[in-house]
Amino acid sequence: MTANAKILGTGGYLPAEIRTNDDISKTVDTSDAWIYERTGIKSRRIAAPEESAASMAEIAAKQAIANAAINASDIDLIIVTTGTPDCVYPSTACIVQERLGIKNCVAFDVQAACSGALFSLSIADQYIKTGAAKNVLLIGSELCSRIVDWTDRGTCILFGDGAGALLLGASEEPGVLSTHIHSDGAYCDLLYCPNPQVEARNDKNGLGFINMRGNEVFKMAVTTLERIVDETLEANNLSKADIHWLVPHQANIRIIAATAKKLKMSLDQVIVTLEEQGNTSSASVLLALHQGISDGRIQRGQNILLEAFGAGFTWGSALIKY
Ligand code: ACO
Repeated sequence: MTANAKILGTGGYLPAEIRTNDDISKTVDTSDAWIYERTGIKSRRIAAPEESAASMAEIAAKQAIANAAINASDIDLIIVTTGTPDCVYPSTACIVQERLGIKNCVAFDVQAACSGALFSLSIADQYIKTGAAKNVLLIGSELCSRIVDWTDRGTCILFGDGAGALLLGASEEPGVLSTHIHSDGAYCDLLYCPNPQVEARNDKNGLGFINMRGNEVFKMAVTTLERIVDETLEANNLSKADIHWLVPHQANIRIIAATAKKLKMSLDQVIVTLEEQGNTSSASVLLALHQGISDGRIQRGQNILLEAFGAGFTWGSALIKY
């Protein structure tokens, strides 16, 4: 019998430093009012110099393992998604595997920018469905503050640091109902972060900062996410009323509100973390899922729609019965 990927536990980690809009207004020409009105963000977390994608991932992972009440040694696959890996290689997943003391499991990284959690979830689901893995640990860990140009008001206001983790296990009960992932490399130029050591693009001053044509990305995000909502509902033969919770990528409250409107949902049915976390890229959906589950809003048996859009462009969704 085909197994389902069931949520066993979630975890999250946010660094201690809180950087408010007012803090940013002291160094670039912006204001708390502009940022909050245009994005819904009030503050974001900033990692300390000694922290890394792997160190943050380790903390989130340990919480997910504890919440799942399984032994770390029962994990047979670790997937880490990050745009800010500790090293070019080894993968951050291998570093996390060592930090967790897990032997004899497979570990690899997935890169799909802000959609990384959905791409990883889709891979994890296939592994579990085919019987290739039983317990999959999936982690999004991002140090966006290290790749943001803190003199660029168009991007530095948006991003934050953090890690989210999800443990999926094989079950006979329904879990992940479907995943949907897409890519279109035609839009690489609208949102990218060069690798300063390789610098194949050679179009900036050798610095590895996020470059974004925000308004164009915004419009594409809204229309693309509306499409993927339809795709997800149709694939499951469900209607909008069957969705209990929307757990979106946390890029901009106006993008989130547009998707909620498309689903005829009020914002009360949406897990929103960006006011205090900003956009933590591939960690954001996992952090939001952890928030909704740990504060008791998301209940067993409910249907959750996860979605994300990011550089590439990449975009994805998942429908999960919790
Ligand atoms: N403070 C004050 N003014 C600003 C700021 C700021 N921080 N940033 C831009 N402005 C100005 C611009 O210069 C412009 O001024 P002008 O009219 O005099 O030229 C004006 O505000 C409007 O600029 P827009 O870029 O059109 O503003 P917009 O309403 O689009 O908001 C934002 C900008 C918040 C970046 C929005 O476009 C956005 O959220 N984009 C999507 C981001 C996203 O989803 N990214 C994908 C995921 S990220 C990933 O994959 C890594």
